Amino acid sequence: MGRLQEKVAIVTGSGQGIGRASAERFAREGARVVVAEIREDTGRACAAAIEAAGGEALFVETDVTSADAVEGLVAQSVERFGSIDVLFNCAGGSIPEDVAITEVDLDAVWDHTLSLDLKGTMLCCRHVIPEMIRAGGGSIVNSTSVVALRGGYPVHVYTAAKGGVISFTRGIAGSYTTQGIRANAVAPGLVLSERLRERFGENAAAAMASQEDHPFSVGEPPDIAAVALFLASDESRMVTGAVIAADGGLSAF
Ligand SMILES: NC(=O)c1ccc[n+]([C@@H]2O[C@H](COP(=O)([O-])OP(=O)(O)OC[C@H]3O[C@@H](n4cnc5c(N)ncnc54)[C@H](O)[C@@H]3O)[C@@H](O)[C@H]2O)c1
Repeated sequence: MGRLQEKVAIVTGSGQGIGRASAERFAREGARVVVAEIREDTGRACAAAIEAAGGEALFVETDVTSADAVEGLVAQSVERFGSIDVLFNCAGGSIPEDVAITEVDLDAVWDHTLSLDLKGTMLCCRHVIPEMIRAGGGSIVNSTSVVALRGGYPVHVYTAAKGGVISFTRGIAGSYTTQGIRANAVAPGLVLSERLRERFGENAAAAMASQEDHPFSVGEPPDIAAVALFLASDESRMVTGAVIAADGGLSAF
């Protein structure tokens, strides 16, 4: 029996990277998966890969920064699968233009980053939570980052957004616990998703100055999918309002 048998899971940003690895892993564990992705090509490819492997998936082209789009995502998910048990908010990320706050082009970076990483996460929770309440509970997993746990620089805007995700996650964990909803966040270190490989090249891991002291701080998308799976599943039923660092100890020592 899979660890997410009978569950319906929405994974945002699941066209590539951590989101895709998680969508595929969740499906292998028995979940029916909604692939909520802004890019049609990669979103469809993820859903097709899940179906080809014998799973069940629905692709919904979704911009998580749009309230209307997220409402549509929830409506289509419920129409197809009946309820929503798991929400993994994975759409997010920093952009190369995010530099020190004294230098950063706020017009280019602030709205984009706060919209995608914080507002997108909040909108998905806002529209999914009523469905989870209707179903008697659920598990929300949000994506924060090591940069919010130890002060990331120079990505100041992204650091602020991911800090907001932590506070928001704790807030909703408190509000909805009596309705059977858990909310947690995963805080990865450096994960070699397509986006980071593209930005830093194959030397991304070696480029990390702290690698010598923290050999577990660089990972691959399936490493984070495994943590998200634990938080999504009933195995973590005592865990809520928590931030699980998957950063090889970068935030601890
Ligand atoms: N990769 C890392 O090292 C790392 C470290 C810490 C935290 N994280 C967080 O983990 C999450 C996933 O990171 P990743 O590296 O796998 O990212 P990625 O860039 O590889 O994938 C992100 C996916 O989200 C999609 N997306 C972008 N904007 C969207 C929108 N408005 N609506 C819906 N989908 C959208 C993209 O098309 C892409 O498929 C992000 O929240 C990121 O901040 C990543």
